Amino acid sequence: MAKIFQAALVLMTATVLVWCKYYDESHVNGYHFHVYFFSGVQRNTQEALAFRDAIQQQIYKGNLRNCILKAVNTGPFGPHMVANYETCCNKSSIAEALSFFMINHGNLTVLFHPLTRYERLDHTGREMFLGPRIPIDTNVLSDDLQDYLDMCTTTEQVKVYPTSVATNGNPGGNSRKAAPKQPLS
Ligand SMILES: *[C@@H]1O[C@H](CO)[C@@H](O)[C@H](O)[C@H]1NC(C)=O
Ligand SMILES: *[C@@H]1O[C@H](CO)[C@@H](O)[C@H](O)[C@H]1NC(C)=O
Repeated sequence: MAKIFQAALVLMTATVLVWCKYYDESHVNGYHFHVYFFSGVQRNTQEALAFRDAIQQQIYKGNLRNCILKAVNTGPFGPHMVANYETCCNKSSIAEALSFFMINHGNLTVLFHPLTRYERLDHTGREMFLGPRIPIDTNVLSDDLQDYLDMCTTTEQVKVYPTSVATNGNPGGNSRKAAPKQPLS
């Protein structure tokens, strides 16, 4: 009998603790999908570029109507340590986009993360990977973007990287040029 009472007490305490837990309700403005590939590996690069065409087709067709596809970075860019390209999706297309990426990413690793003002957190703890995890360079991420939020706008937002990373292997592929004090991701 005492055992049952004890168990009930533990259960009640646990319930109260769960009720008291604080859940962050900060606003998610959209989501990024970063498709990673190894530019020195031809088959992997071809798969990545073919997948990019497929994503573009989905956008044209209207299946991912609130997504935009960014230019290919043929080398490291910002926090991304291997070649990559980004798709930014608003919430209104996220179910379709996530389904498409989950089902079709093949052998490619995709980093999926939310866009809030807390860029570092978005990439370190809130992120998810499809395929094997590839490390990111967290040093260039900002703790708080404040007014430099990425809203997935088609007019490309100017983003900044420290010069040491910004110059890496991307001849003309990326329209996001270095400018002072801007967000990364
Ligand atoms: C995402 O939403 C923002 C804010 O409503 C809008 O300005 C932007 O154009 C949208 N992007 C896409 C790709 O639909
Ligand atoms: C993934 O890799 C395997 C083994 O190399 C290959 O047979 C397959 O076609 C690749 N998948 C895609 C979608 O390219």
